[in-house]
Amino acid sequence: MSKGDTSAVILCKPTIERLSGYVAALKRGWSPSTHEDISQQELKRIERDAAHFIELQDDREAKGEPVRLRDGSFVPRLPGFRRWMWDGDFAGIISLRWQPGRGELPPWCLGHIGYSVVPWKRRRGYATEALRLLLLEARAVGLPYVEITTSEENAASQRVITANGGVLVEKLVTAERDDELMRFRIEL
Ligand SMILES: CC(C)(COP(=O)(O)OP(=O)(O)OC[C@H]1O[C@@H](n2cnc3c(N)ncnc32)[C@H](O)[C@@H]1OP(=O)(O)O)[C@@H](O)C(=O)NCCC(=O)NCCS
Repeated sequence: MSKGDTSAVILCKPTIERLSGYVAALKRGWSPSTHEDISQQELKRIERDAAHFIELQDDREAKGEPVRLRDGSFVPRLPGFRRWMWDGDFAGIISLRWQPGRGELPPWCLGHIGYSVVPWKRRRGYATEALRLLLLEARAVGLPYVEITTSEENAASQRVITANGGVLVEKLVTAERDDELMRFRIEL
């Protein structure tokens, strides 16, 4: 497939039927989190209760566990959902979270959207297309804009964001990350 051919990738809701593709990616060492390896934690959660795991992938009522910050404190989970990039098999993940009724995020949450493509399917345009598709869903939620924060060293992620209309808002350093960050905004 040529790099420009993104027609092969769609976003789908996580389902039990497709879970084996997600599990296979975790077992190959891919992690859905961009700043820590949570593949083993994810595998344990799935093993414990696969149906519950799938249910929490679409968590618009924020029923999931509180989020643990780097300093050990806990903050309430925000409403959100995950979508799987799918090209006939699992290709990556993209997620959206928000604060009900408003655009702005609490200070501890760096961005509305996160994404990760499995290493063996990168540079095919999948992340760029996945973000384009997720922005349609973010509009449907009623958000006026989304913010996405990426590392200053992550040229690929910056390209994904600017290709989708992202404009740099600020550069920042936070207690949650070691690297310098860039926060972009996309008006919806
Ligand atoms: C960042 C990431 C999601 C990009 O996924 P992808 O599907 O390979 O991205 P695309 O194929 O849509 O490429 C987007 C652009 O980045 C460029 N790019 C991709 N990988 C690159 C790399 N390693 N170095 C430099 N540029 C790169 C592409 O050429 C493309 O540029 P173009 O639009 O000018 O042609 C992927 O590398 C990844 O999952 N990284 C780990 C997780 C991560 O960093 N997530 C982002 C957190 S904010």
